[in-house]
Amino acid sequence: MARFRTLDDIDVRGKRVLLRADLNVPVKDGVVSDATRIERLAPTIEALIEKDAKVIVMSHFGRPDGRPAPAYSLRPLVAPLSKAICGREVAFASDCIGDEAKRVVAALRPGQVALLENLRFHKGEEENSADFARALADLGDVYVDDAFSAAHRAHASIAALAHLLPAAAGKLMEAELAALTAALESPARPVLALVGGAKVSTKLDLLRFVIGKVDVLAIGGAMANTLLFAEGTEIGRSLCERDMADNARKLLALARERNCRVILPEDAVVAVRLAPGTETRTIPVDAVPGDMMILDIGPKTVARIGAALEDVRTLVWNGPLGAFETPPFDQATVVLAKKVAELTQAGKLLSVAGGGDTVAALAMARMTDRLSYVSTAGGAFLEWLEGRELPGVAALAAAAPTASTGDVA
Ligand code: 3PG
Ligand code: MG
Repeated sequence: MARFRTLDDIDVRGKRVLLRADLNVPVKDGVVSDATRIERLAPTIEALIEKDAKVIVMSHFGRPDGRPAPAYSLRPLVAPLSKAICGREVAFASDCIGDEAKRVVAALRPGQVALLENLRFHKGEEENSADFARALADLGDVYVDDAFSAAHRAHASIAALAHLLPAAAGKLMEAELAALTAALESPARPVLALVGGAKVSTKLDLLRFVIGKVDVLAIGGAMANTLLFAEGTEIGRSLCERDMADNARKLLALARERNCRVILPEDAVVAVRLAPGTETRTIPVDAVPGDMMILDIGPKTVARIGAALEDVRTLVWNGPLGAFETPPFDQATVVLAKKVAELTQAGKLLSVAGGGDTVAALAMARMTDRLSYVSTAGGAFLEWLEGRELPGVAALAAAAPTASTGDVA
């Protein structure tokens, strides 16, 4: 893992700490429908309060396209944020730079917290503008990045700003990076990757990278249909990217070359339509009737993946295995989530999962707390699994003293 400073390495007492958070949470009818990201940020804020810092939280929210837009205001996040830090008061600045932000920051005493308005109300944020980063830097003495889930964006508050102030990773950033490193960079072997989701085309880079890293690759979701089709299986009306057949064959050849065992579905749950409680059949994958489609992997495949999980020590999971939002096609995902939880709780497996749908599926199965680590990241988790350098992580590493000057753990 790249070296970077943490909260233990910087002096924040009495200082203004600019804390880059990711408060880009799902909101329905003005109410936060999943507060996970806020709750996971809280320990960093608490630690900074404990050290008598003045905490200035900044974040993006949605994609307002560089203009102020009331629908994307962070003001409704003040109450949930306050709740996550034991009801402490959170001041709000209706602009993230300029006089209004300066006024709110100047009023903070050590141990107090303020939230700045959406960073993306300014074009400079997404443009990684040096001027915008300087305007943010004016508000603080120290920079802390706790937004792993936005680390794939080379935006001003994530990239440029990290070079203008002493910079460190927050506790959530640290935890995310530690989990991902344990899963892919220096894992206990064997390692199994469980990859699902709809499309091979969106996960080509991920599959290529993962094949080079893991010992077993189990594939579910509609993307498995494309691989089955590429190998000559007739799959009826199943979702399938027929134009990806060549790429799919290349992936399977790469896996053979790299000695990565691939588990593809052998049986499937099929139906005429995707609807809750619709009539289903469970059949071998080479017997899908022409008018039906595969909507989940079948029990034999689940058992085979379950057996493989018993033989490995590390799991990295991205993507649901069936159309999990529509029961009963959530079955395979739920059963395997339970299996993973059981092995993890027994101390036999280190399990790391991430990606938007995966996190939602695990929450639905009520297994989130029973895995070793479930990332708060969607896109950033995927890009990590593609082996890419994340700008947010790179900026922290570059901002840290080098190994030879060496005061960083
Ligand atoms: C996310 O929710 O994936 C991050 O907050 C990044 O948001 P973005 O995709 O709008 O950049
Ligand atoms: Mg996103």
